[in-house]
Amino acid sequence: MTYTIGLQASTVGTGHAHGKTILVGEHTVVYGLPAIAIPLSGLTVDAVARAGVDSAVSGRPTMPRVLDREHFQYRFTCGHDDSAAGAEFGPAIAVRAALHRWRIDHGSVEVSVGSSIPPARGLGSSAALAAAAVRAVANLLAEPLEDRALFELVQCGEQVAHGRASGVDTATVIALEPVWFEADKAHPIMPGLDAALVLADSGIAGNTRQAVEVARGVLGRRRADARQLLATAAAITERAATALKAGQAATLGYWMAEFHALLQKLGVSTAELDRLVTAAQRAGAHGAKLTGGGLGGCVLALTEPESAAAVAGALTDAGAQQTWTVPIRSRLP
Ligand code: PMV
Repeated sequence: MTYTIGLQASTVGTGHAHGKTILVGEHTVVYGLPAIAIPLSGLTVDAVARAGVDSAVSGRPTMPRVLDREHFQYRFTCGHDDSAAGAEFGPAIAVRAALHRWRIDHGSVEVSVGSSIPPARGLGSSAALAAAAVRAVANLLAEPLEDRALFELVQCGEQVAHGRASGVDTATVIALEPVWFEADKAHPIMPGLDAALVLADSGIAGNTRQAVEVARGVLGRRRADARQLLATAAAITERAATALKAGQAATLGYWMAEFHALLQKLGVSTAELDRLVTAAQRAGAHGAKLTGGGLGGCVLALTEPESAAAVAGALTDAGAQQTWTVPIRSRLP
Protein backbone atom coordinates (compact mmCIF):
# COMPACT_ATOMS: atom_id res chain seq x y z
CA MET A 1 0.00 0.00 0.00
CA THR A 2 1.16 3.58 -0.67
CA TYR A 3 0.02 6.84 0.85
CA THR A 4 -0.50 10.50 0.00
CA ILE A 5 0.20 13.39 2.31
CA GLY A 6 -3.36 14.53 2.88
CA LEU A 7 -3.11 16.81 5.86
CA GLN A 8 -4.77 20.05 6.84
CA ALA A 9 -2.61 23.02 5.90
CA SER A 10 -2.66 24.03 9.56
CA THR A 11 -1.11 20.74 10.73
CA VAL A 12 2.59 21.01 11.55
CA GLY A 13 5.26 18.67 12.88
CA THR A 14 8.26 19.79 14.89
CA GLY A 15 11.72 18.29 15.42
CA HIS A 16 14.87 19.15 17.33
CA ALA A 17 18.57 18.17 17.31
CA HIS A 18 21.84 19.69 18.52
CA GLY A 19 25.49 20.09 17.53
CA LYS A 20 28.45 17.92 18.43
CA THR A 21 32.20 18.05 18.87
CA ILE A 22 34.66 15.19 18.46
CA LEU A 23 37.02 14.76 21.42
CA VAL A 24 39.26 12.24 19.62
CA GLY A 25 39.00 9.89 16.66
CA GLU A 26 37.82 11.94 13.68
CA HIS A 27 38.90 10.63 10.29
CA THR A 28 40.20 7.32 11.63
CA VAL A 29 36.58 6.60 12.69
CA VAL A 30 35.78 6.41 8.97
CA TYR A 31 37.87 3.18 8.91
CA GLY A 32 35.83 1.52 11.67
CA LEU A 33 38.06 2.70 14.54
CA PRO A 34 36.56 4.26 17.68
CA ALA A 35 35.88 7.94 18.34
CA ILE A 36 34.61 9.89 21.35
CA ALA A 37 32.14 12.71 20.69
CA ILE A 38 30.25 15.13 22.93
CA PRO A 39 26.73 16.46 22.25
CA LEU A 40 26.54 20.28 22.28
CA SER A 41 23.06 20.87 23.69
CA GLY A 42 23.48 24.66 23.52
CA LEU A 43 23.89 24.64 19.72
CA THR A 44 20.40 23.78 18.55
CA VAL A 45 18.41 23.08 15.41
CA ASP A 46 14.62 23.29 15.29
CA ALA A 47 12.57 22.21 12.30
CA VAL A 48 8.92 22.65 11.36
CA ALA A 49 7.29 20.46 8.69
CA ARG A 50 3.97 20.98 6.97
CA ALA A 51 2.26 19.45 3.93
CA GLY A 52 3.65 21.16 0.81
CA VAL A 53 1.25 23.76 -0.61
CA ASP A 54 2.01 22.46 -4.10
CA SER A 55 1.30 18.83 -3.25
CA ALA A 56 -2.23 18.81 -4.64
CA VAL A 57 -1.04 20.43 -7.88
CA SER A 58 2.12 18.71 -8.98
CA GLY A 59 4.21 17.61 -6.04
CA ARG A 60 7.01 19.62 -7.64
CA PRO A 61 10.02 20.02 -5.38
CA THR A 62 11.92 23.22 -4.79
CA MET A 63 15.65 23.49 -4.30
CA PRO A 64 16.77 24.17 -0.73
CA ARG A 65 16.67 27.90 -0.06
CA VAL A 66 18.70 29.74 2.52
CA LEU A 67 16.26 32.25 3.96
CA ASP A 68 18.61 34.09 6.30
CA ARG A 69 22.26 33.18 5.97
CA GLU A 70 23.34 34.96 9.14
CA HIS A 71 20.84 33.06 11.29
CA PHE A 72 21.14 29.79 9.36
CA GLN A 73 17.47 29.56 8.35
CA TYR A 74 16.68 27.11 5.54
CA ARG A 75 13.52 26.02 3.77
CA PHE A 76 13.01 23.20 1.29
CA THR A 77 10.20 21.18 -0.19
CA CYS A 78 10.60 17.48 -0.70
CA GLY A 79 8.60 14.84 -2.56
CA HIS A 80 9.28 11.13 -2.74
CA ASP A 81 10.55 11.20 -6.34
CA ASP A 82 12.36 14.55 -6.71
CA SER A 83 15.76 12.96 -7.01
CA ALA A 84 17.27 15.96 -8.80
CA ALA A 85 16.21 18.59 -6.28
CA GLY A 86 18.69 19.34 -3.56
CA ALA A 87 20.83 16.45 -4.77
CA GLU A 88 23.73 17.66 -2.66
CA PHE A 89 21.69 18.85 0.33
CA GLY A 90 21.85 16.16 3.02
CA PRO A 91 18.69 17.14 4.95
CA ALA A 92 16.58 16.97 1.76
CA ILE A 93 18.06 13.57 0.92
CA ALA A 94 17.27 12.33 4.44
CA VAL A 95 13.67 13.61 4.28
CA ARG A 96 13.18 12.00 0.87
CA ALA A 97 14.46 8.69 2.29
CA ALA A 98 11.97 9.10 5.16
CA LEU A 99 9.06 9.64 2.75
CA HIS A 100 10.16 6.53 0.88
CA ARG A 101 10.38 4.53 4.12
CA TRP A 102 6.86 5.59 5.08
CA ARG A 103 5.64 4.81 1.53
CA ILE A 104 4.46 8.36 0.83
CA ASP A 105 4.18 8.23 -2.95
CA HIS A 106 2.33 11.45 -3.66
CA GLY A 107 2.57 15.03 -2.47
CA SER A 108 5.35 16.85 -0.72
CA VAL A 109 6.40 18.29 2.61
CA GLU A 110 7.77 21.76 3.23
CA VAL A 111 10.44 21.89 5.92
CA SER A 112 11.71 25.08 7.58
CA VAL A 113 14.82 24.76 9.70
CA GLY A 114 16.42 27.29 12.03
CA SER A 115 19.87 26.51 13.40
CA SER A 116 22.38 28.07 15.77
CA ILE A 117 25.18 25.78 14.52
CA PRO A 118 27.55 27.51 12.10
CA PRO A 119 27.85 25.32 8.99
CA ALA A 120 31.16 23.86 7.75
CA ARG A 121 32.84 24.20 11.16
CA GLY A 122 32.96 20.52 12.21
CA LEU A 123 30.13 21.06 14.71
CA GLY A 124 27.64 18.64 13.16
CA SER A 125 25.48 21.18 11.33
CA SER A 126 24.51 18.95 8.39
CA ALA A 127 23.61 15.93 10.55
CA ALA A 128 21.67 18.07 13.02
CA LEU A 129 19.69 19.81 10.26
CA ALA A 130 18.78 16.43 8.79
CA ALA A 131 17.89 14.88 12.17
CA ALA A 132 15.63 17.79 13.13
CA ALA A 133 14.00 17.77 9.67
CA VAL A 134 13.30 14.02 9.71
CA ARG A 135 11.93 14.23 13.26
CA ALA A 136 9.63 17.07 12.18
CA VAL A 137 8.31 15.04 9.22
CA ALA A 138 7.78 11.97 11.46
CA ASN A 139 5.88 14.17 13.90
CA LEU A 140 3.78 15.65 11.06
CA LEU A 141 2.88 12.20 9.76
CA ALA A 142 2.49 10.68 13.26
CA GLU A 143 5.07 8.04 12.32
CA PRO A 144 6.94 6.43 15.23
CA LEU A 145 10.68 7.03 14.86
CA GLU A 146 13.21 4.96 16.81
CA ASP A 147 16.72 6.35 17.13
CA ARG A 148 18.15 3.58 14.91
CA ALA A 149 15.71 4.37 12.09
CA LEU A 150 16.48 8.10 12.46
CA PHE A 151 20.21 7.28 12.34
CA GLU A 152 19.80 5.36 9.09
CA LEU A 153 17.72 8.10 7.45
CA VAL A 154 20.14 10.88 8.42
CA GLN A 155 23.05 8.77 7.18
CA CYS A 156 21.50 8.75 3.67
CA GLY A 157 22.22 12.50 3.52
CA GLU A 158 25.53 12.35 5.39
CA GLN A 159 26.99 9.81 2.95
CA VAL A 160 26.53 12.41 0.23
CA ALA A 161 27.82 15.32 2.34
CA HIS A 162 30.96 13.50 3.61
CA GLY A 163 31.65 11.15 0.71
CA ARG A 164 32.09 8.44 3.33
CA ALA A 165 30.35 9.15 6.65
CA SER A 166 31.20 7.05 9.70
CA GLY A 167 27.98 7.97 11.50
CA VAL A 168 29.67 9.58 14.51
CA ASP A 169 28.08 12.96 13.73
CA THR A 170 24.64 11.43 13.25
CA ALA A 171 24.82 9.43 16.48
CA THR A 172 25.97 12.41 18.55
CA VAL A 173 23.51 15.05 17.30
CA ILE A 174 20.69 12.88 18.68
CA ALA A 175 22.54 11.66 21.81
CA LEU A 176 22.02 13.07 25.30
CA GLU A 177 25.32 11.80 26.74
CA PRO A 178 28.94 11.70 25.50
CA VAL A 179 29.32 8.93 22.95
CA TRP A 180 31.82 6.14 22.33
CA PHE A 181 31.27 5.40 18.64
CA GLU A 182 32.73 2.37 16.95
CA ALA A 183 31.83 0.32 13.88
CA ASP A 184 28.50 2.00 13.29
CA LYS A 185 27.29 1.81 16.91
CA ALA A 186 27.10 4.43 19.67
CA HIS A 187 27.42 3.71 23.38
CA PRO A 188 27.18 6.27 26.20
CA ILE A 189 30.49 7.01 27.93
CA MET A 190 30.33 8.56 31.40
CA PRO A 191 32.90 11.27 32.16
CA GLY A 192 34.52 11.11 35.58
CA LEU A 193 35.71 14.69 35.56
CA ASP A 194 34.44 18.25 35.84
CA ALA A 195 36.19 20.29 33.18
CA ALA A 196 35.49 22.76 30.39
CA LEU A 197 35.72 22.41 26.65
CA VAL A 198 36.55 25.63 24.83
CA LEU A 199 35.65 25.60 21.13
CA ALA A 200 37.15 28.23 18.85
CA ASP A 201 36.03 28.94 15.31
CA SER A 202 38.93 29.67 12.97
CA GLY A 203 36.46 31.58 10.78
CA ILE A 204 37.50 29.46 7.80
CA ALA A 205 34.98 27.05 6.33
CA GLY A 206 36.11 23.44 6.38
CA ASN A 207 35.11 20.87 3.79
CA THR A 208 34.53 17.44 5.31
CA ARG A 209 34.20 15.65 1.99
CA GLN A 210 37.49 17.06 0.75
CA ALA A 211 39.21 16.40 4.10
CA VAL A 212 38.10 12.75 4.08
CA GLU A 213 39.63 12.49 0.57
CA VAL A 214 42.89 14.13 1.70
CA ALA A 215 43.22 11.69 4.63
CA ARG A 216 42.45 8.75 2.40
CA GLY A 217 45.08 9.94 -0.09
CA VAL A 218 47.73 10.15 2.66
CA LEU A 219 46.87 6.66 3.95
CA GLY A 220 46.94 5.32 0.39
CA ARG A 221 50.31 6.88 -0.48
CA ARG A 222 51.97 5.85 2.76
CA ARG A 223 50.73 2.30 2.87
CA ALA A 224 53.68 1.11 4.95
CA ASP A 225 52.89 3.66 7.68
CA ALA A 226 49.10 3.53 7.37
CA ARG A 227 48.62 0.40 9.45
CA GLN A 228 50.81 1.84 12.21
CA LEU A 229 49.07 5.21 12.06
CA LEU A 230 45.61 3.63 12.40
CA ALA A 231 46.81 1.43 15.27
CA THR A 232 48.18 4.52 17.02
CA ALA A 233 44.86 6.33 16.51
CA ALA A 234 42.92 3.46 18.09
CA ALA A 235 45.36 3.30 21.03
CA ILE A 236 45.11 7.07 21.63
CA THR A 237 41.32 6.91 21.59
CA GLU A 238 41.28 3.98 24.06
CA ARG A 239 43.63 5.86 26.41
CA ALA A 240 41.60 9.06 26.09
CA ALA A 241 38.46 7.11 27.05
CA THR A 242 40.19 5.66 30.10
CA ALA A 243 41.34 9.14 31.17
CA LEU A 244 37.87 10.64 30.56
CA LYS A 245 36.17 7.96 32.67
CA ALA A 246 38.82 8.11 35.41
CA GLY A 247 38.67 11.90 35.67
CA GLN A 248 42.31 12.45 34.59
CA ALA A 249 42.06 15.81 32.83
CA ALA A 250 45.79 16.32 32.21
CA THR A 251 46.13 12.84 30.70
CA LEU A 252 43.07 13.35 28.52
CA GLY A 253 44.51 16.67 27.30
CA TYR A 254 47.80 14.94 26.50
CA TRP A 255 46.03 12.37 24.29
CA MET A 256 44.02 15.11 22.58
CA ALA A 257 47.27 16.86 21.67
CA GLU A 258 48.72 13.56 20.42
CA PHE A 259 45.64 13.09 18.25
CA HIS A 260 46.12 16.55 16.77
CA ALA A 261 49.64 15.52 15.78
CA LEU A 262 48.17 12.46 14.08
CA LEU A 263 45.63 14.60 12.21
CA GLN A 264 48.51 16.82 11.05
CA LYS A 265 50.11 13.69 9.56
CA LEU A 266 46.81 12.94 7.81
CA GLY A 267 47.07 16.36 6.15
CA VAL A 268 43.83 17.84 7.52
CA SER A 269 45.20 20.58 9.78
CA THR A 270 46.09 24.07 8.59
CA ALA A 271 48.45 26.82 9.76
CA GLU A 272 45.48 28.69 11.32
CA LEU A 273 44.29 25.62 13.24
CA ASP A 274 47.85 24.86 14.42
CA ARG A 275 48.20 28.45 15.62
CA LEU A 276 44.98 28.22 17.64
CA VAL A 277 46.07 24.88 19.14
CA THR A 278 49.39 26.41 20.24
CA ALA A 279 47.64 29.48 21.70
CA ALA A 280 45.31 27.29 23.78
CA GLN A 281 48.16 25.15 25.11
CA ARG A 282 50.20 28.25 26.03
CA ALA A 283 47.20 29.73 27.86
CA GLY A 284 47.03 26.68 30.14
CA ALA A 285 44.76 24.18 28.36
CA HIS A 286 45.43 20.53 29.23
CA GLY A 287 45.36 19.83 25.51
CA ALA A 288 43.95 21.10 22.24
CA LYS A 289 43.29 19.79 18.77
CA LEU A 290 41.29 20.48 15.66
CA THR A 291 37.82 18.95 15.86
CA GLY A 292 35.77 17.51 13.00
CA GLY A 293 36.88 17.26 9.41
CA GLY A 294 39.50 20.04 9.53
CA LEU A 295 40.92 22.08 6.60
CA GLY A 296 39.24 24.92 8.50
CA GLY A 297 36.52 24.83 11.11
CA CYS A 298 37.13 24.65 14.84
CA VAL A 299 39.71 23.88 17.49
CA LEU A 300 38.74 22.19 20.77
CA ALA A 301 40.65 22.80 24.02
CA LEU A 302 40.24 20.97 27.35
CA THR A 303 40.70 23.21 30.40
CA GLU A 304 39.98 23.41 34.10
CA PRO A 305 36.67 25.27 34.54
CA GLU A 306 38.45 28.27 36.12
CA SER A 307 40.95 28.56 33.21
CA ALA A 308 38.31 28.49 30.47
CA ALA A 309 37.93 32.29 30.22
CA ALA A 310 41.70 32.81 29.90
CA VAL A 311 41.98 30.11 27.22
CA ALA A 312 39.00 31.55 25.31
CA GLY A 313 40.63 35.01 25.49
CA ALA A 314 43.94 33.65 24.18
CA LEU A 315 42.12 31.93 21.31
CA THR A 316 40.37 35.20 20.40
CA ASP A 317 43.72 37.03 20.52
CA ALA A 318 45.15 34.36 18.20
CA GLY A 319 42.44 35.05 15.61
CA ALA A 320 39.41 32.94 16.60
CA GLN A 321 36.19 34.53 15.32
CA GLN A 322 33.98 33.04 17.98
CA THR A 323 34.40 30.82 21.04
CA TRP A 324 32.02 28.64 23.04
CA THR A 325 32.65 27.16 26.48
CA VAL A 326 30.88 23.91 27.30
CA PRO A 327 31.07 22.14 30.68
CA ILE A 328 31.90 18.45 31.00
CA ARG A 329 30.33 17.14 34.21
CA SER A 330 31.17 13.91 35.94
CA ARG A 331 28.38 11.35 35.97
CA LEU A 332 28.06 8.15 37.91
CA PRO A 333 28.07 5.08 35.67
O1 PMV B 1 31.32 16.75 9.90
P1 PMV B 1 32.67 16.94 10.47
O2 PMV B 1 33.50 17.93 9.74
O3 PMV B 1 32.60 17.14 11.96
O4 PMV B 1 33.48 15.54 10.29
C1 PMV B 1 33.04 14.36 10.82
C2 PMV B 1 34.13 13.44 11.19
C3 PMV B 1 34.86 12.73 10.05
O5 PMV B 1 35.52 11.64 10.72
C4 PMV B 1 35.91 13.62 9.42
C5 PMV B 1 33.96 12.19 8.97
C6 PMV B 1 33.04 11.08 9.44
O6 PMV B 1 32.01 10.87 8.79
O7 PMV B 1 33.34 10.42 10.45
